[in-house]
Amino acid sequence: MSPFSYRNQSEAVAERFRKLKQRPVVLEVKDLTKRFGTESNPVLALDNVSFEVHRREFVCVVGASGCGKSTLVRLLAGLEQPTSGSLLLDGKTVDGPGADRGMVFQGYTLFPWLTVKDNVMFGPRMKGMSRAAAREEADQWLSLVSLDAFADSYPHQLSGGMKQRVAIARALANSPRILLMDEPFGALDAQTRAQMQRHLLHIWKNADVTIVFITHDLDEAIYLADRILVLKPRPGRVAELLEVPVPRPRSTEQFQSPEFLATRRRLEEWIHPGSETGTSHVDELPRLRLTQVGDEVE
Ligand SMILES: Nc1ncnc2c1ncn2[C@@H]1O[C@H](COP(=O)(O)OP(=O)(O)O)[C@@H](O)[C@H]1O
Ligand SMILES: [Mg+2]
Repeated sequence: MSPFSYRNQSEAVAERFRKLKQRPVVLEVKDLTKRFGTESNPVLALDNVSFEVHRREFVCVVGASGCGKSTLVRLLAGLEQPTSGSLLLDGKTVDGPGADRGMVFQGYTLFPWLTVKDNVMFGPRMKGMSRAAAREEADQWLSLVSLDAFADSYPHQLSGGMKQRVAIARALANSPRILLMDEPFGALDAQTRAQMQRHLLHIWKNADVTIVFITHDLDEAIYLADRILVLKPRPGRVAELLEVPVPRPRSTEQFQSPEFLATRRRLEEWIHPGSETGTSHVDELPRLRLTQVGDEVE
Protein backbone atom coordinates (compact mmCIF):
# COMPACT_ATOMS: atom_id res chain seq x y z
CA MET A 1 0.00 0.00 0.00
CA SER A 2 1.23 3.46 -0.87
CA PRO A 3 2.62 5.38 2.14
CA PHE A 4 1.05 8.53 0.72
CA SER A 5 -1.28 10.24 3.17
CA TYR A 6 -4.17 12.51 2.26
CA ARG A 7 -2.44 15.05 4.50
CA ASN A 8 0.64 15.19 2.25
CA GLN A 9 0.29 18.42 0.34
CA SER A 10 2.74 19.63 -2.23
CA GLU A 11 4.18 23.09 -1.56
CA ALA A 12 1.99 24.48 -4.40
CA VAL A 13 -1.18 23.05 -2.84
CA ALA A 14 -0.23 24.27 0.64
CA GLU A 15 0.33 27.73 -0.81
CA ARG A 16 -3.12 27.62 -2.46
CA PHE A 17 -4.73 26.87 0.90
CA ARG A 18 -2.77 29.61 2.65
CA LYS A 19 -4.09 32.08 0.08
CA LEU A 20 -7.61 30.66 0.22
CA LYS A 21 -7.78 31.16 3.99
CA GLN A 22 -6.74 34.78 3.60
CA ARG A 23 -9.78 35.46 1.45
CA PRO A 24 -12.82 36.88 3.31
CA VAL A 25 -15.28 34.45 4.88
CA VAL A 26 -18.52 34.44 2.86
CA LEU A 27 -20.41 31.81 4.79
CA GLU A 28 -20.13 31.14 8.50
CA VAL A 29 -22.02 28.26 10.09
CA LYS A 30 -21.86 28.25 13.90
CA ASP A 31 -23.07 25.45 16.18
CA LEU A 32 -25.91 24.70 13.80
CA THR A 33 -28.46 22.24 15.16
CA LYS A 34 -31.65 21.10 13.46
CA ARG A 35 -34.17 18.83 15.13
CA PHE A 36 -37.20 17.33 13.41
CA GLY A 37 -39.98 15.15 14.75
CA THR A 38 -41.92 15.38 17.98
CA GLU A 39 -40.75 15.96 21.53
CA SER A 40 -41.17 12.27 22.35
CA ASN A 41 -39.62 11.12 19.06
CA PRO A 42 -37.03 13.70 17.97
CA VAL A 43 -34.79 13.31 14.91
CA LEU A 44 -31.53 15.20 15.31
CA ALA A 45 -30.69 15.88 11.64
CA LEU A 46 -27.75 18.20 12.38
CA ASP A 47 -25.89 18.49 15.65
CA ASN A 48 -23.54 21.39 16.35
CA VAL A 49 -22.24 21.80 12.84
CA SER A 50 -19.65 24.58 12.41
CA PHE A 51 -17.54 25.55 9.40
CA GLU A 52 -16.54 28.54 7.29
CA VAL A 53 -16.40 28.98 3.54
CA HIS A 54 -14.12 31.57 1.97
CA ARG A 55 -14.79 33.74 -1.03
CA ARG A 56 -14.73 31.74 -4.30
CA GLU A 57 -14.02 28.54 -2.43
CA PHE A 58 -15.52 25.26 -3.71
CA VAL A 59 -16.72 23.17 -0.77
CA CYS A 60 -18.26 19.74 -1.22
CA VAL A 61 -20.35 18.09 1.49
CA VAL A 62 -20.33 14.30 1.60
CA GLY A 63 -21.87 11.75 3.93
CA ALA A 64 -24.04 8.65 3.94
CA SER A 65 -27.70 8.94 3.04
CA GLY A 66 -29.69 10.52 5.89
CA CYS A 67 -26.75 12.33 7.50
CA GLY A 68 -28.35 15.75 7.01
CA LYS A 69 -26.85 17.02 3.73
CA SER A 70 -30.13 18.22 2.24
CA THR A 71 -31.18 19.64 5.60
CA LEU A 72 -27.98 21.69 5.62
CA VAL A 73 -28.71 23.04 2.12
CA ARG A 74 -32.31 23.85 3.01
CA LEU A 75 -31.12 25.76 6.07
CA LEU A 76 -28.55 27.66 3.98
CA ALA A 77 -31.27 28.41 1.44
CA GLY A 78 -33.49 29.77 4.22
CA LEU A 79 -36.20 27.19 3.48
CA GLU A 80 -35.90 25.84 7.05
CA GLN A 81 -35.09 27.56 10.33
CA PRO A 82 -32.33 26.23 12.61
CA THR A 83 -33.31 24.81 15.98
CA SER A 84 -30.23 26.56 17.38
CA GLY A 85 -26.99 28.05 16.18
CA SER A 86 -26.47 30.53 13.40
CA LEU A 87 -25.88 30.93 9.68
CA LEU A 88 -24.19 34.08 8.45
CA LEU A 89 -23.78 35.14 4.83
CA ASP A 90 -21.34 38.06 4.51
CA GLY A 91 -21.79 38.52 8.25
CA LYS A 92 -25.58 38.82 8.03
CA THR A 93 -27.94 36.26 9.54
CA VAL A 94 -29.80 34.11 7.02
CA ASP A 95 -33.47 34.30 7.95
CA GLY A 96 -35.31 33.30 4.78
CA PRO A 97 -34.81 32.72 1.09
CA GLY A 98 -32.98 35.44 -0.85
CA ALA A 99 -31.46 36.28 -4.21
CA ASP A 100 -27.99 36.20 -2.62
CA ARG A 101 -28.21 32.38 -2.73
CA GLY A 102 -28.61 30.53 -6.02
CA MET A 103 -29.87 26.96 -6.01
CA VAL A 104 -29.54 23.99 -8.32
CA PHE A 105 -31.19 20.73 -7.33
CA GLN A 106 -31.32 17.29 -8.88
CA GLY A 107 -34.82 17.66 -10.32
CA TYR A 108 -35.20 19.97 -13.29
CA THR A 109 -36.67 23.20 -12.06
CA LEU A 110 -36.86 25.22 -15.29
CA PHE A 111 -40.12 26.83 -16.37
CA PRO A 112 -41.26 24.55 -19.20
CA TRP A 113 -43.30 27.28 -20.92
CA LEU A 114 -40.33 29.67 -21.23
CA THR A 115 -37.45 29.42 -23.69
CA VAL A 116 -33.94 28.79 -22.38
CA LYS A 117 -33.11 32.47 -22.64
CA ASP A 118 -36.35 33.58 -20.96
CA ASN A 119 -35.65 31.12 -18.13
CA VAL A 120 -32.24 32.76 -17.56
CA MET A 121 -33.70 36.28 -17.90
CA PHE A 122 -36.44 35.57 -15.38
CA GLY A 123 -34.46 36.48 -12.22
CA PRO A 124 -32.91 39.69 -13.57
CA ARG A 125 -36.35 40.78 -14.92
CA MET A 126 -37.93 40.12 -11.50
CA LYS A 127 -35.28 42.36 -9.98
CA GLY A 128 -36.42 45.15 -12.31
CA MET A 129 -33.68 44.94 -14.93
CA SER A 130 -34.73 46.23 -18.37
CA ARG A 131 -35.50 43.66 -21.03
CA ALA A 132 -32.44 44.66 -23.07
CA ALA A 133 -30.06 44.47 -20.10
CA ALA A 134 -31.54 41.14 -18.95
CA ARG A 135 -31.13 39.77 -22.46
CA GLU A 136 -27.47 40.79 -22.47
CA GLU A 137 -26.99 39.23 -19.04
CA ALA A 138 -28.62 35.97 -20.20
CA ASP A 139 -26.47 35.86 -23.35
CA GLN A 140 -23.35 36.12 -21.26
CA TRP A 141 -24.33 33.24 -18.93
CA LEU A 142 -25.57 31.04 -21.75
CA SER A 143 -22.25 31.54 -23.45
CA LEU A 144 -20.37 30.54 -20.30
CA VAL A 145 -22.36 27.27 -20.09
CA SER A 146 -21.90 26.76 -23.88
CA LEU A 147 -25.59 26.93 -24.72
CA ASP A 148 -25.70 30.02 -26.96
CA ALA A 149 -27.07 27.90 -29.79
CA PHE A 150 -30.04 26.76 -27.65
CA ALA A 151 -31.22 30.16 -26.40
CA ASP A 152 -34.56 29.86 -28.22
CA SER A 153 -35.18 26.19 -27.43
CA TYR A 154 -37.65 25.03 -24.81
CA PRO A 155 -36.51 22.89 -21.86
CA HIS A 156 -38.20 19.73 -23.21
CA GLN A 157 -35.98 19.94 -26.30
CA LEU A 158 -32.79 19.67 -24.22
CA SER A 159 -30.91 16.68 -22.75
CA GLY A 160 -30.67 16.29 -18.98
CA GLY A 161 -27.15 17.71 -18.85
CA MET A 162 -28.15 20.73 -20.91
CA LYS A 163 -31.13 21.41 -18.66
CA GLN A 164 -28.83 21.43 -15.64
CA ARG A 165 -26.51 23.87 -17.42
CA VAL A 166 -29.48 26.18 -18.01
CA ALA A 167 -30.36 25.80 -14.31
CA ILE A 168 -26.80 26.86 -13.41
CA ALA A 169 -26.93 29.83 -15.81
CA ARG A 170 -30.30 30.84 -14.40
CA ALA A 171 -29.01 30.67 -10.82
CA LEU A 172 -25.88 32.68 -11.69
CA ALA A 173 -27.82 35.36 -13.60
CA ASN A 174 -29.12 36.55 -10.21
CA SER A 175 -25.50 37.28 -9.13
CA PRO A 176 -25.74 35.15 -5.99
CA ARG A 177 -22.96 35.34 -3.39
CA ILE A 178 -23.13 31.60 -3.06
CA LEU A 179 -24.35 28.76 -5.26
CA LEU A 180 -25.98 25.86 -3.40
CA MET A 181 -26.08 22.59 -5.31
CA ASP A 182 -27.78 19.48 -3.88
CA GLU A 183 -26.74 16.39 -5.87
CA PRO A 184 -27.28 18.35 -9.10
CA PHE A 185 -25.84 15.63 -11.34
CA GLY A 186 -27.41 12.69 -9.48
CA ALA A 187 -29.92 11.89 -12.25
CA LEU A 188 -27.41 11.99 -15.12
CA ASP A 189 -25.65 9.04 -16.76
CA ALA A 190 -21.97 8.58 -15.91
CA GLN A 191 -20.61 10.13 -19.10
CA THR A 192 -22.82 13.23 -18.96
CA ARG A 193 -22.03 13.55 -15.30
CA ALA A 194 -18.27 13.62 -15.95
CA GLN A 195 -18.82 16.23 -18.64
CA MET A 196 -20.94 18.35 -16.27
CA GLN A 197 -18.21 18.20 -13.63
CA ARG A 198 -15.71 19.61 -16.15
CA HIS A 199 -18.23 22.28 -17.17
CA LEU A 200 -18.84 23.26 -13.58
CA LEU A 201 -15.13 23.72 -12.86
CA HIS A 202 -14.91 25.93 -15.95
CA ILE A 203 -17.92 27.99 -14.82
CA TRP A 204 -16.58 28.33 -11.28
CA LYS A 205 -13.20 29.46 -12.56
CA ASN A 206 -14.80 32.19 -14.67
CA ALA A 207 -17.59 33.43 -12.40
CA ASP A 208 -17.32 35.35 -9.14
CA VAL A 209 -19.11 32.78 -7.04
CA THR A 210 -18.59 30.55 -4.01
CA ILE A 211 -19.97 27.01 -4.26
CA VAL A 212 -21.38 24.58 -1.69
CA PHE A 213 -21.98 21.30 -3.50
CA ILE A 214 -23.65 18.26 -1.95
CA THR A 215 -22.87 14.82 -3.30
CA HIS A 216 -22.55 11.25 -2.16
CA ASP A 217 -20.12 10.49 -4.99
CA LEU A 218 -16.67 10.60 -3.41
CA ASP A 219 -14.76 10.89 -6.71
CA GLU A 220 -16.97 13.79 -7.72
CA ALA A 221 -16.22 15.56 -4.43
CA ILE A 222 -12.45 15.07 -4.74
CA TYR A 223 -12.42 16.14 -8.39
CA LEU A 224 -14.37 19.35 -7.68
CA ALA A 225 -13.61 20.58 -4.18
CA ASP A 226 -11.05 22.72 -2.46
CA ARG A 227 -12.25 21.31 0.85
CA ILE A 228 -14.65 18.49 1.67
CA LEU A 229 -16.96 18.65 4.68
CA VAL A 230 -17.55 15.08 5.83
CA LEU A 231 -20.74 14.49 7.84
CA LYS A 232 -21.36 11.49 10.09
CA PRO A 233 -24.96 10.28 10.40
CA ARG A 234 -27.39 10.05 13.32
CA PRO A 235 -26.94 12.72 14.46
CA GLY A 236 -25.38 14.66 11.55
CA ARG A 237 -22.06 15.89 12.88
CA VAL A 238 -18.89 17.16 11.24
CA ALA A 239 -16.37 14.33 11.01
CA GLU A 240 -13.74 16.37 9.22
CA LEU A 241 -13.20 19.36 6.95
CA LEU A 242 -10.61 17.90 4.64
CA GLU A 243 -8.26 19.89 2.39
CA VAL A 244 -8.08 18.13 -0.95
CA PRO A 245 -4.36 17.73 -1.74
CA VAL A 246 -4.95 17.24 -5.50
CA PRO A 247 -3.42 20.16 -7.45
CA ARG A 248 -5.41 22.38 -9.80
CA PRO A 249 -6.20 22.56 -12.64
CA ARG A 250 -7.86 19.17 -12.23
CA SER A 251 -8.04 16.49 -14.88
CA THR A 252 -9.50 13.00 -15.00
CA GLU A 253 -5.97 11.50 -15.17
CA GLN A 254 -5.60 12.57 -11.54
CA PHE A 255 -8.19 9.97 -10.47
CA GLN A 256 -5.28 7.52 -10.28
CA SER A 257 -2.80 9.86 -8.59
CA PRO A 258 -1.50 9.03 -5.08
CA GLU A 259 -3.10 12.23 -3.71
CA PHE A 260 -6.47 11.33 -5.16
CA LEU A 261 -6.39 7.71 -3.99
CA ALA A 262 -5.23 8.65 -0.49
CA THR A 263 -8.08 11.18 -0.19
CA ARG A 264 -10.55 8.59 -1.43
CA ARG A 265 -9.34 6.05 1.15
CA ARG A 266 -9.72 8.64 3.88
CA LEU A 267 -13.30 9.46 2.84
CA GLU A 268 -14.11 5.73 2.57
CA GLU A 269 -12.95 5.24 6.16
CA TRP A 270 -15.48 7.81 7.34
CA ILE A 271 -18.34 6.81 5.12
CA HIS A 272 -18.06 3.04 4.78
CA PRO A 273 -16.15 1.99 7.90
CA GLY A 274 -15.05 -1.64 7.70
CA SER A 275 -15.22 -1.90 3.91
CA GLU A 276 -11.42 -1.90 3.66
CA THR A 277 -10.99 -4.74 6.12
CA GLY A 278 -13.15 -7.25 4.30
CA THR A 279 -16.09 -7.07 6.71
CA SER A 280 -18.30 -5.20 4.26
CA HIS A 281 -22.04 -5.75 4.34
CA VAL A 282 -21.77 -7.88 1.17
CA ASP A 283 -20.62 -10.65 3.52
CA GLU A 284 -23.91 -10.38 5.34
CA LEU A 285 -26.16 -10.99 2.33
CA PRO A 286 -28.54 -13.91 2.91
CA ARG A 287 -27.37 -17.23 1.51
CA LEU A 288 -30.64 -17.87 -0.30
CA ARG A 289 -30.26 -19.65 -3.69
CA LEU A 290 -32.85 -19.70 -6.45
CA THR A 291 -30.69 -21.37 -9.12
CA GLN A 292 -30.22 -24.95 -10.25
CA VAL A 293 -27.39 -26.93 -8.72
CA GLY A 294 -24.46 -26.95 -11.17
CA ASP A 295 -25.41 -23.63 -12.79
CA GLU A 296 -22.48 -21.78 -11.21
CA VAL A 297 -21.65 -18.34 -12.63
CA GLU A 298 -18.59 -17.49 -10.58
N1 LIG B 1 -39.03 17.59 7.15
C1 LIG B 1 -38.55 16.58 7.87
N2 LIG B 1 -39.26 16.04 8.88
C2 LIG B 1 -38.76 15.03 9.64
N3 LIG B 1 -37.54 14.48 9.46
C3 LIG B 1 -36.78 14.97 8.47
C4 LIG B 1 -37.24 16.04 7.62
N4 LIG B 1 -36.25 16.32 6.73
C5 LIG B 1 -35.25 15.46 6.99
N5 LIG B 1 -35.55 14.67 8.05
C6 LIG B 1 -34.67 13.64 8.64
O1 LIG B 1 -33.41 14.23 8.88
C7 LIG B 1 -32.36 13.34 8.56
C8 LIG B 1 -31.46 13.95 7.51
O2 LIG B 1 -32.16 14.01 6.26
P1 LIG B 1 -31.53 14.66 4.94
O3 LIG B 1 -31.02 16.01 5.28
O4 LIG B 1 -32.53 14.54 3.86
O5 LIG B 1 -30.28 13.68 4.65
P2 LIG B 1 -29.39 13.47 3.35
O6 LIG B 1 -29.69 14.57 2.39
O7 LIG B 1 -27.99 13.48 3.86
O8 LIG B 1 -29.73 12.12 2.80
C9 LIG B 1 -33.02 12.04 8.13
O9 LIG B 1 -33.08 11.18 9.24
C10 LIG B 1 -34.41 12.49 7.70
O10 LIG B 1 -35.34 11.45 7.85
MG1 LIG C 1 -30.29 14.58 0.34
